[in-house]
Amino acid sequence: MSALVHRLGYIALNVRDMDAAVRDAEGIAGVRLVKSSPDRTLLTSNQRHAELIYYRSSADEVRSIGLEANDAACVAEVARRVRQRGLRILSETPSLDVISNSVTFATSEGHIFEVHTPMPLDQPVRYMCGGIHPRCIDHVNLTSSDPKTITEELVDVLGMKLSERSTGYELNWLRAGDNRHHTVGLVKGKPGLHHYSWEFSDFSDFKRLGDMLDADDRCLVWGPGRHGAGDNLFTYYVDTGGFLVECTAEMELMPLTAEARVVEVGENLSNPKVVNRWGAPPPQAWIHHHSAFMKL
Ligand SMILES: [Fe+2]
Repeated sequence: MSALVHRLGYIALNVRDMDAAVRDAEGIAGVRLVKSSPDRTLLTSNQRHAELIYYRSSADEVRSIGLEANDAACVAEVARRVRQRGLRILSETPSLDVISNSVTFATSEGHIFEVHTPMPLDQPVRYMCGGIHPRCIDHVNLTSSDPKTITEELVDVLGMKLSERSTGYELNWLRAGDNRHHTVGLVKGKPGLHHYSWEFSDFSDFKRLGDMLDADDRCLVWGPGRHGAGDNLFTYYVDTGGFLVECTAEMELMPLTAEARVVEVGENLSNPKVVNRWGAPPPQAWIHHHSAFMKL
């Protein structure tokens, strides 16, 4: 059976400093303001109505991760499976008025997902911006104290496919219906978000990103390099809210029927064939990065 979710829909973050967060998203990542109110700002990098959503809050934390379902019937099926699995439904009211149907639920470790009908394509294709300008929001990588169980929950409830995992399930990569190697990754650690990712069009964007961060007296956290798992180009930086942002390109596509690969990541992620085929291992700041989800 095909996956009930097609792709990453959006990432919603609670931020203490809304103005700084929006300035950073526009000026570094190069996304575009769609709509703002005192408490919420919607941004996008393409025709989709919203890909990055900031909520004014007293803490920098993850509010929810949107996953785009094929249609309302898929949303209803996800809701049925969430109940069957014994997981908690938080809401069946869409978080945005442009979304027709959704269900928001929490995994057994408190990761919050809103599975929603497709985001309207009502924004301009091209726009002026001072940042890099991604192609789209791409994937998230979550941290979990029991990544094997959370992987099983997402496979069961969302129909996602396991693309690749480490021998002891310490790292897991799940694909959605668009067949990208991963839309949700899971790595062992304190439950939360490790990073979210923008897809860029070209490797020259990575050079511009490094130079723009340098001009702002900031640095890349890791990369550029090429991950073995997913075969994607990567580099990472931390935004003003303390969230780790990956910039990626050239993610591998996997056939719907492909079996999961099992890989050995090595002690402290030391196997370059899985972690970074170009050689440089991840720094401690990358390995230990963590953002919490909003408390339920
Ligand atoms: Fe990633």
